[in-house]
Amino acid sequence: MSDGLTGLLVGNSAPMRELRQQVLQVAQADYPVLIRGESGAGKEVVARAIHAASPRKQAPFIGQSCLAIPETLIESELFGHEPGAFTDARERRIGLFEQAEGGTLFLDEIGDIPLNFQKRLLRVLQEREVRRLGSTEAIAVNVRILTATNAPIEQFVADGRFRADLMYRLNTFELQVPPLRRRLEDVPLLVEHFVAKHALRYGLKVDPPPPEVIKRLGEYPWPGNVRELENFVVRWISLGPEALIALDKGVSRPTDAQDVSRRWLSMTMDEIEAEVIRMVLADCGGNKSVCAKRLGMARKSLYNKLDRYGIRAPA
Ligand SMILES: Nc1ncnc2c1ncn2[C@@H]1O[C@H](COP(=O)(O)OP(=O)(O)OP(=O)(O)O)[C@@H](O)[C@H]1O
Ligand SMILES: [Mg+2]
Repeated sequence: MSDGLTGLLVGNSAPMRELRQQVLQVAQADYPVLIRGESGAGKEVVARAIHAASPRKQAPFIGQSCLAIPETLIESELFGHEPGAFTDARERRIGLFEQAEGGTLFLDEIGDIPLNFQKRLLRVLQEREVRRLGSTEAIAVNVRILTATNAPIEQFVADGRFRADLMYRLNTFELQVPPLRRRLEDVPLLVEHFVAKHALRYGLKVDPPPPEVIKRLGEYPWPGNVRELENFVVRWISLGPEALIALDKGVSRPTDAQDVSRRWLSMTMDEIEAEVIRMVLADCGGNKSVCAKRLGMARKSLYNKLDRYGIRAPA
């Protein structure tokens, strides 16, 4: 199992071994790779592993979620700007492409980039040069592009929300990150990894979950994938066996949409709202601004609701 990815891409199940193989293979090439998989399955981890195994590993890895950038700022965020390029542009800003020079730029949630920006992004990928906003000078960039999405991007193309030419540019090679429920054999190794990671961070001596708990964790479907398991371990470290209650109650996300709607039949509107907020917040890794944006809600009203329903953001 020592292929240079140890400690980065934990898991020794057949699907993970295959994925590691593919990671090592695409790491040697320089074409774009589209990484697909459910939320929390480990898409960013895979992107970092590709970079770490590539000849670019000494240069920067820059990761950015396209969902987190307001539409009006996306161009300056990626390409940079000169002073005075727009009202708030007081100083020069170096864009993410330039920051990643020689290395890898990872754009997460690529399905969500605004349609009117897609053509400009495509041109940069083709010409391998960027222009900072407010400047006419073209700057050559040598950057490998990795992207990820959990969205049905082919459907977005069919709906006219995503340019076909950009999709074909980005998905030269696709990697699928399998959901955790298809590789439950990896649960014990992952638990060990996360206990070490978080106990170390908090400087604690932690009793790892006993075998009967590990067995239960290996039977749970993990709708929130590896992120949900990691959150469980963090709760285990502070709460011990009490952490299991959350799994029993199904606080975590249900497996599929049908389950959700059937359960909703026996819930009040407030309970449903609280559950949706919890799901989205967990899915945003606890980032309240992103959560509010995804729910189409002012941040203030999200805070009020978090308060009202007693919801705390995941660690
Ligand atoms: N194979 C793995 N080995 C070690 N840690 C992992 C693995 N897969 C996921 N993780 C951890 O789980 C968490 C979620 O992973 P990651 O952020 O890569 O998921 P994602 O697919 O990008 O999720 P999202 O769709 O929400 O962006 C991270 O803290 C990551 O470190
Ligand atoms: Mg991600």
